[in-house]
Amino acid sequence: MKHQEKILDEYGPKCYPFLKWAGGKTQLLPKISKAVPHSYDRYFEPFLGGGAVFFYMISNNTLRSEAHLIDSNKELINTYNVIKSNVEELIMILSKYQEEYNKSPVKSYYDLRNKFNRNLTSIEKAARTIALNKTCYNGLYRVNRNGEFNVPIGRYKKPVICDSENLRNIHNALLNSKTYLYVDDYRSILVDKTNENDFIYLDPPYDPVSATAKFTGYTECGFTNKDQRDLSRVFMKLTDRGCKVLLSNSDTPYIRDLYKDFSRYMHQVYALRSIRPTKKVLLIT
Ligand SMILES: C[S@@+](CC[C@H](N)C(=O)[O-])C[C@H]1O[C@@H](n2cnc3c(N)ncnc32)[C@H](O)[C@@H]1O
Repeated sequence: MKHQEKILDEYGPKCYPFLKWAGGKTQLLPKISKAVPHSYDRYFEPFLGGGAVFFYMISNNTLRSEAHLIDSNKELINTYNVIKSNVEELIMILSKYQEEYNKSPVKSYYDLRNKFNRNLTSIEKAARTIALNKTCYNGLYRVNRNGEFNVPIGRYKKPVICDSENLRNIHNALLNSKTYLYVDDYRSILVDKTNENDFIYLDPPYDPVSATAKFTGYTECGFTNKDQRDLSRVFMKLTDRGCKVLLSNSDTPYIRDLYKDFSRYMHQVYALRSIRPTKKVLLIT
């Protein structure tokens, strides 16, 4: 059993991330879950991505309050919204993509990728996002300056494009919880909406460990050193406000320096990578 699957199995979640997402936190759940406070008023996750921590919390009944989920990637948040409101239509379209892919992987992948600029409904866009994610190289989400998805096809023997059971579980979880989804920059929601005793999990795009390791392509804009610095200021503001804040980032000198006032709350943990060497991750709690 692969490492990620083992963790999902141990934690027995009813729902799990429906996308592969760069920097996804599934394998760090054993560490992160220990840092989730026992009591808090509301949950905020402003760099939602694949939502590994949110899905863990919802599956294990540790989400006891309303949740505010934010990401600046509009295709991603549209997909969550469609799962919440139109899961059966989404499953129908995905099943069709699954059949087409099984017959002719390369043709069906590039036909779908070329649909990026066409007028599609929000349900068709969500289906395209899931299908491309499950079949593209390494599950990357990368767009060019015009916002067009430009990742080549990946090598998979039998990718599962339509995991209807998980999608229905997520649909029920989103409907049965008080969950609010936003396409936005993390700043506006965190600065305007949070109060003392809210719990906030911050998982920004990683500070690159080297110039060649730089990957910040989740949106057209990227995430720069200045963005990391701005985020550290928001982190301070939230802790001053009395919020309970948990942050993960790569363990680099730059990040250690930005958060040096919190050095006694830093924990180094390890994330396994399929291609690169093990990654050092810093959790600040
Ligand atoms: C490291 S990923 C989060 C991974 C997530 N924790 C998971 O388990 O899949 C960072 C996310 O931040 C989002 N993001 C980047 N810049 C942002 C911004 N300024 N405001 C909000 N979200 C942003 C990206 O779209 C991406 O989904």
